[in-house]
Amino acid sequence: MRIDRSTLSLDQPVSSLDPNRGTHEEAAEWLRHGPVVPVALPDDVRAWAAMSAEAAQTVLDAHPDLSSDPRHWGAYTRGEIPAGWPLLNLIVGESMLNADGMDHRRLRRLVSHAFTPRRIDAFAPRIREITRELLDDLESAKPGDVTDLKEGFAYPLPLLIICELFGLTDPDQQRRLRGHFRTMLSVEVSGAERQAAAVGQRKVLARLVADRREAPLGDLTSALIEALDDEAGRLTEKELIDTLEIILLAGHETTVNSLTSTVHALLTHPDQLRALLGGELDWPAAVEAGLHWNAPLRNLFMRYALRDTVLHGVTVRRGEPIVVGLAAANREQRGTVPARFDIRDSRLYDRQLAFGAGPHFCLGAPLARLESAIGLSQLFARFPAMRLAVPESELVPVISTAINGLDALPVVLRPASV
Ligand code: HEM
Repeated sequence: MRIDRSTLSLDQPVSSLDPNRGTHEEAAEWLRHGPVVPVALPDDVRAWAAMSAEAAQTVLDAHPDLSSDPRHWGAYTRGEIPAGWPLLNLIVGESMLNADGMDHRRLRRLVSHAFTPRRIDAFAPRIREITRELLDDLESAKPGDVTDLKEGFAYPLPLLIICELFGLTDPDQQRRLRGHFRTMLSVEVSGAERQAAAVGQRKVLARLVADRREAPLGDLTSALIEALDDEAGRLTEKELIDTLEIILLAGHETTVNSLTSTVHALLTHPDQLRALLGGELDWPAAVEAGLHWNAPLRNLFMRYALRDTVLHGVTVRRGEPIVVGLAAANREQRGTVPARFDIRDSRLYDRQLAFGAGPHFCLGAPLARLESAIGLSQLFARFPAMRLAVPESELVPVISTAINGLDALPVVLRPASV
C-alpha cells in the first residue's frame, strides 16, 4: 500500500513506541510508513520519529529549522508533559545536550577543554588496570559456571572509568549514583520514583562538587570547577551539575551496551572471533562493527521544530518534537533493517550514526572507543573459549524507550569441555 506522506500528522500516530518490543522489529514496521513517521511515546506524548539513515542524518546535522532546546517544545511549554515522564530530567537539563548555537559551543568547549584526547590517551594504562582487576574478580568462575557478563564486567568497567576520571572514587557514592541512574532510566517504576532518583543523583553530584571545591584534585570535576570559578558567569552552578550528570550518565549507560552487544556478536560469529584472536582483524574495527550491529541508543530524544518545516515528505509543525531512531537508522538500507555483523566490511560502519552526527556528535566517542577496545581484547585474551550459556533466542532485551541492549549476558567463561 502506498502511503501519502503529506497526510501524516501527530494527530494520527501510526504506532506507539513499545519498550517491550524488539528495537529492530518495531523499526521495520515504522519504516513501512516512510522515513519520518508520527508516533505516540509513553503517556501518549506525540513525536515524529526519524527512522531512515538519511532522515536521521538530516535531523542531526545543524538543521536551521530544528533545535535541541526544550523551550521550543510546544507540549512541554504548555505544561502537558507529566513531571516524571521518562527521560524528562535529561531532556530539560541545562547541559550542552539541550543547547543550541553559542550556548552549546560555550558549554561544550568547557568540557572538551577538560576532556582532551591527550588526557583520554594518558588514561589508557589506568583503563587497562581497571579491566585487569575486574577480570581477576571473574577468575574464580569454575569450568561450567554461568556468569552474567553484563553485571560482572560490561557494567562496572565504564562506570569505574568515568567515575575515576571525574574523581568520584568512593564506592558507596558510586553505588548510589548507579542506583539513581538505573531508576531514572527505568520504564518499570513510577514517575514519582524517577523524580526521587533524579533528586538523589543531584545530591551525590552536589556533594562531589563541594568536596572538590574544598580540596581540588587532578580530576575532571576539579578542572570544570576551575573553569566555572575562573571565568565568572561562564558556567552556572546548575549548568555544572547538569553537565556532570549528562557526562556521568552518558559515559557509562551507553558503553555498557556497546560492550555487551559486541560480546554477543562475537560469540555468535565465531569465525570473526577466531580472526581477532589470531591477529587477522583488529579490536577497534570489532568495536565499530558492534556499534553498527546494535547501536546502544535505541532512540535519541529530541529535536524541536522552530517553524513549520518539511522533512522527507512530512510537515513537522512548529513546536513538534522529533525522536531519532538511532539503532534503526544505523542499520537501515532502502527501507529495511538488515542485521549484519561483519568486521571485514568497513562500508557498514565507516559512516555510522551510533555516536550521532553534527554539532552534538558524542563528546565521549574517543573514550568509549578506547575503553571498548581495551575491554574486549583483554576479556577474550583471558577467556578465549567463552561461550553463551543459553541459546541466542533466550537472550532478553532491555525494556527501554532509549536503550538498545541486553538485560543480561549469561556466559560460561570456561566451558567444561575445554
Ligand atoms: C558507546 C558509547 C556511546 C554512545 C553510543 C554515545 C552516543 C551519543 C550520541 C548519539 C550523542 C548525540 C546526542 C544528540 O545529538 O543529542 C552523544 C552525545 C554526547 N555524549 Fe555520548 N555516547 C557514548 C559514550 C559517551 C561517553 C563515554 C561519554 C563521556 C565521557 C559521552 C558523553 C557525551 C556527551 C557529553 C554528549 C553531548 C554532546 C553535545 O551535546 O554536544 N558519551 N553520545
